[in-house]
Amino acid sequence: RLGWSLWIRDTVDSTNADALRLLQGGANAPFLVLAEHQTSGRGRRGRIWVSPPAQNIYYTLALKISTGSQGLTGLSLVVGLAVLEALRRTGVEKAGLKWPNDIYADGAKVAGILLELTGDPADICHVVIGIGINVNMTSSAGGIDQPWTSIKRQIGSLVDRSELINILSESLHQYLAIHAREGFGALRDEWQRNNMWQGRRCTLSAGNLQVKGVMIGINEQGALRLMTDDHKEQCFSGGELSLRVE
Ligand code: ATP
Ligand code: BTN
Repeated sequence: RLGWSLWIRDTVDSTNADALRLLQGGANAPFLVLAEHQTSGRGRRGRIWVSPPAQNIYYTLALKISTGSQGLTGLSLVVGLAVLEALRRTGVEKAGLKWPNDIYADGAKVAGILLELTGDPADICHVVIGIGINVNMTSSAGGIDQPWTSIKRQIGSLVDRSELINILSESLHQYLAIHAREGFGALRDEWQRNNMWQGRRCTLSAGNLQVKGVMIGINEQGALRLMTDDHKEQCFSGGELSLRVE
């Protein structure tokens, strides 16, 4: 038993925004918000998540979290592992992770994750974990400005979204339990084994700043480790960073 309350919506602006409103209104976490359609699905850094009706999964889990503990360290990477596992169990073979939290299949983005926090950072607060998976989407109506794919494209048949939601919830529950019990360190190796760009030359951008180097993995906190051209190892973390392969 997961013990999560469930809110099922037809149309919302964003399941993350909806979950944040529910928390503000006093709803008790953990709970899950699902929607058929998002009118302003959001990605990282104010970007748009293309969210057509009745084809995909728009999924947000709201959790209580104590930021004083290690509760947030590596959390978004752990969610990536849980989504990856769910995709594999659905038959997607060529899936991998792009730091910090995108899921790719056969070189194209198939799912994205957006964590948002509420409350005073020094205090107990909540995190909403938003997951968007392209399930049966066959056309983006031109709205996506980078290569994308869907589970249907990968496995060649329609996917039962309810079944996938079950698989995803089970996987998420398992990974969150390991993370809560043992911390991110216990999952670091597994993340690195699934790192799409391990050992590849990459460019990291943060605003106008660019750093080039070879991706050598992540550290115990989930920060990106780059070996820069002057043979210095540098670690990076933070929500404003964007990684590209050369
Ligand atoms: P990074 O943040 O590391 O630069 P990114 O370019 O994928 O990675 P994100 O903010 O993580 O950026 O994701 C938002 C981007 O995802 C959008 O700008 C768009 O290019 C793409 N995108 C939007 N909707 C979808 C979708 N349904 N499927 C796949 N990709 C999408
Ligand atoms: C990204 O790759 O930038 C993250 C995309 C996250 C999309 C999901 S869909 C469910 C939840 N609600 C949102 O508005 N965004 C997340």
